[in-house]
Amino acid sequence: MRARGVAVACAVAGLVAGCGPTPAEEYGEALFRDSRLSTSQYNAFSCATCHATSSEQAGDKLYAGLSLEGVASRPHWWGGYEVTLLDAVNFCYTAFMRGTTPLAAEDPKSRALYEYLVSLSPQPQSPAQSFTLVRDITDVPRGDARRGAEVYRAACQDCHGEVRTGEDRLTTLAPVLPDVAGEYGQLFPNSPPGLVFIEKVRHGRFFGVGGNMPPYSREALSDEDLGALLAWLGL
Ligand code: HEC
Ligand code: HEC
Repeated sequence: MRARGVAVACAVAGLVAGCGPTPAEEYGEALFRDSRLSTSQYNAFSCATCHATSSEQAGDKLYAGLSLEGVASRPHWWGGYEVTLLDAVNFCYTAFMRGTTPLAAEDPKSRALYEYLVSLSPQPQSPAQSFTLVRDITDVPRGDARRGAEVYRAACQDCHGEVRTGEDRLTTLAPVLPDVAGEYGQLFPNSPPGLVFIEKVRHGRFFGVGGNMPPYSREALSDEDLGALLAWLGL
């Protein structure tokens, strides 16, 4: 409530004298883009690794997390699973960024992040975003490999780097693709390698898979694009 008051005051003041982002918003944006928000030595992600802040900014990119435009004025988050914004953020912070203790409400960093998320949410209300996790893994038809190359660049390359070399990957914790799937025949003799790969993309670190990669919901990645990606990777 207090933050919205500030935003309104700013909008009113802005009519009189130019009113840019407040220092708290600027600090919040810097934190949003900084992987050091989490002090874990195993974390290389910032919020901005997985979330665009508007659909224009997302462009052709396929982020695992949805755009955060309007996020502070949604009625709930994570498909209704989280009912406070701080819990929704902390879910990402602990699950993906390996933060050991959740950010506390009174922590100046949480407050600044909150102010930044409020600045992305000019409307008093925004609709909840649907988020459909694919629980049961089934095979998908292989698609157009040329589209698959675009999907790889748009969705996977920031973290995994170039295919077959891993060049420019964000972290060496992200294995070189598709090479890692070469071991799947031995590790999972009863599942075709393509299916193990699909499971990783759809489940990320959840459903007992482990790691810290985010899952791709249906909204984040269609089966059609996933099939194209598999065709491009030869899986
Ligand atoms: C490794 C990827 C990743 C990182 C890093 C990450 N998120 Fe997320 N986040 C996701 C995914 C996946 C979801 C679930 C899909 C969705 O709703 O966006 C999600 C969901 C959310 C949601 C709920 C959105 C909604 O309406 O349901 C919020 C809020 C959020 N993230 C904020 C943050 C913030 C702030 C940070 C940084 C502290 C962060 N995330 C870091 C991947 C990530
Ligand atoms: C936000 C960064 C990030 C993005 C985006 C990302 N990955 Fe990952 N991925 C990782 C990390 C880190 C690991 C190693 C830890 C783990 O397994 O969760 C990993 C592991 C994997 C693995 C290996 C699982 C295993 O242990 O054998 C596969 C396969 C994979 N990713 C595929 C993909 C594909 C395909 C995409 C694009 C659709 C993608 N990833 C997008 C970070 C990412």
